[in-house]
Order: sequence, then C-alpha cells, then structure tokens
Amino acid sequence: MSSGEPLAFEIHGPARLQGSVTLSGAKNSALKLMAASLLAAGKTTLHNVPGIADVEIMSDLLRSLGCTVEYISESQTLTIDVPQTPGHRAEYNLVRKLRASINVLGPLLTRLGRAEVALPGGDAIGSRGLDFHIKGLQDLGAEAHSEHGYVIASAPDGLVGADISLNFPSVGATENIMTAAVLARGVTTIDNAAREPDVVDLGEFLNSMGAKIEGLGSSLITITGVTNLSPTTHATLPDRIVAGTWAFAAVMTRGDITIIGGREDHLEIPLDKLVQAGAVVTTTTNGFRVKMDRRPTAVDIVTLPYPGFPTDLQPMAICMNAIAEGHSMVTENVFEGRFMFVNELKRLGANITVDGHHASITGIPELSGAPVVATDIRAGAGLVLAGLVSEGTTIVEEGFHVDRGYTHFAENLRTLGAEVLRITE
Ligand code: UD1
Repeated sequence: MSSGEPLAFEIHGPARLQGSVTLSGAKNSALKLMAASLLAAGKTTLHNVPGIADVEIMSDLLRSLGCTVEYISESQTLTIDVPQTPGHRAEYNLVRKLRASINVLGPLLTRLGRAEVALPGGDAIGSRGLDFHIKGLQDLGAEAHSEHGYVIASAPDGLVGADISLNFPSVGATENIMTAAVLARGVTTIDNAAREPDVVDLGEFLNSMGAKIEGLGSSLITITGVTNLSPTTHATLPDRIVAGTWAFAAVMTRGDITIIGGREDHLEIPLDKLVQAGAVVTTTTNGFRVKMDRRPTAVDIVTLPYPGFPTDLQPMAICMNAIAEGHSMVTENVFEGRFMFVNELKRLGANITVDGHHASITGIPELSGAPVVATDIRAGAGLVLAGLVSEGTTIVEEGFHVDRGYTHFAENLRTLGAEVLRITE
C-alpha cells in the first residue's frame, strides 16, 4: 500500500503551496470499521479505505484471526471475509504496532463470549489507559482484567445491556462499548460518549449491519441489542485530520489549496482559528479552499474532544504559531505527551516554552532548516510543514510515522509546488 519504507523526508524550503489535493478515507474510521467487521460472518466491503501502513497492520491482525482480507489500491476498496468462528486472541506482535487494534476487543467478546487482546502500542503521545474500556465491558456483565500484557475478557452467557457513564468522552472506549453492546441482550446507554465523526461513521456502519443505535454524534448513545448482524458495504468518511493538515499547510506557506472531499462541518473550530489567523476559507463544489496571502497572526488554541479543536492538529497549530506574528498559547488537554515534538521544532529555531500542558509561543518570521525526528504521525506531518517554512534543508527522520496516516504525502506536496523527497537509503 504505502510505496516503500522512507527513512526520512527531505524538504527544501521555503515553499508556497498552491493547487488541489484529493482526500482519502479517514484512517481512524477505516481501522475501526475493519475491526467491527468481525461482528458478522461473511464478506464486508469497505470503500474509500486509505492505502496506509496502519491499514496493512490491521489487515494482518484480522488475517491472524482467520479472516481473508484483500485490498485493491486502484479503487481503495477493502474486502474482509470473516469466518463463522474467528480466533479470539490478538497477539502482541501485531497489536503492539497499532493502538486501534484494541478495537477488536468489543466485537470478539460480544460475538465469541471471550477475547484476549494484547495491550496496544501506537504513538508515543501519552499514557493512553484502557480503564474506561475495561470498566465499560464489566458494566455489560463481562469479566475483564489485564494480565501478562493482555486484556482478558469473558462473558460465556453473553453481555447484558447497561447504563454506562464515561469519565471522559474517550473515542476508543465509546467504540469498544458500542461494538460490544450491539449484540448484548437489552438496552445500553453510553453517557458522555465521544461525538467524533469517526464514532458516527462506525455507528452508521453498525446500523447498516442491522444494529439499532440512536444518538450518534450526541453525548448520549442508546444501543438496543440484536441477536445477529449481517456483513455490509460501507464507504469510509473523508479524513478530517488530513484535511486540517492541508488547511494549515496553506496558511503556513501563504498558499492556496483546494481540499477535494474536505468537510468543513467536521473542522468548524480549526477553520475558525485559521480565519482568525488571516485565512480566507471558501466552500467549493466538492470540498473547500484555504487561501492566505500574508504572514499568519498568532492564535490561542485549546485542544478538546470533538467538536473542540482536535489534539491531532495540535502539532500543526504549534508549527503555524511558531512563524506567526505575535505571541500565542496552545493548551493540550487530551494527550499529555503531545508536546514531545516541541524540542524538535525548537531545533528549527522556534521560540517555544512548555509548562505542563501549556506551550507558550513567540512567532518568528522564518524557521531555519535542520535534521529533526518525527515522534508520531501528526508530529511528523507538522515537522514536514515546519520544513516548508524553513530556510534551507530540513530532514524529518523516522518519516515512516507519517506514512502511517498520510497517503502519498511527499507526492502531494510536490504536486502543490514543494521541493520534498523521500529518502529511503
Ligand atoms: C483516538 C485517535 C487519536 C485521537 C484521539 C482523540 C484512533 C486510532 N486514535 O485515540 O488519533 O487523538 O482519539 O481524538 O482513533 N483514556 C483513559 N482511559 C481509557 C481511555 C482513554 O484514561 O480507558 C484517556 C487517554 O489516555 C487520553 C484521553 O482519554 O488522555 C483520550 O483518549 P481517547 O479518546 O480514548 O483516544 P484514542 O481512542 O486512544
């Protein structure tokens, strides 16, 4: 799927990006739809699945559970043939590569009455607990605990609907509880549920399999259990974080990018912030366009669960403020480790002080190219954007992180006029 294993991105700045990009399907949606396909024996077809490394890893995980998985890159279509009785144990060697692998827990438990899933890895962005997932499954009547690096859950007599309240609107916990409750006996409610479009997409997919879920997109989701589900065909929604990345890229480079397939309604607060920074955002027939003709004005940003400013765009927000006119404060409320990349950005000359979950930024007109290291997907993409507004050459090492979330990132950047290479040697 991803072409090669780049060790680094090499960027020759400064650049001005101009042109159009076509969005692919959302990583964080596609991976969850793939995991949820385990809920029904037979063939699920998913359209608009991005050709990224994480989809390959989830495909391998499903294969290890007995599924047949095929990806057609020309049409971005993925088919998953799920056996009558899939395996119940997701092994560490695959799960550790991908946080979203924890999403097989709910489907396996509710369908098989037992599941063993290794504790996941994924990005180094914070502690990422599973307590809400485990507590939610226990509320549905499962015995669930973690032991020897695995979450072990069982419910030999099936799950039973319950009223569940989350302490924090966790995306992953909402998804695992929802996918478990669809086959539970009776009604489940999830209060303080995550409202992310990815959660809505998953719920709509489940409903098209025959589930009965109401309240998607609100903080109260109601699930009436059914006895069985059927495989379905579904198109993944467009990736709002990739769309947001291109929007920030346009603003940072004083460029003009049309994001084909972009949904402004999924990015209301980030786009408002970019307008405050000086951008002009217009709706087009099949997406939206972001245009900027001056140095951005610094804007304060606070990350919050949807519809708040997404933590996944926080690195881009910091990078933009690093070259903006004025002083700003970026506050991270979701993942405490997300500021790890700031030290890398400072190597490009950015003037940033981190204190706890606040980053205080004084913009400078231009950064200066240097070698830096990507610590996770979004930090990696942010550092590439920072390279675009740096004078000279920036090398973003460990660029494979970027491939985990962005299809043809370097190619798209080149189409938009940047001088970017993937260095694989
Ligand atoms: C998902 C996304 C990630 C995004 C995040 C928030 C995927 C694969 N990843 O991650 O890109 O940044 O949503 O939009 O979809 N928490 C607990 N206990 C739990 C669960 C979560 O303490 O049981 C905490 C986490 O440590 C974190 C916060 O809650 O501080 C939010 O996590 P969550 O919404 O669950 O994020 P993910 O689903 O892991």
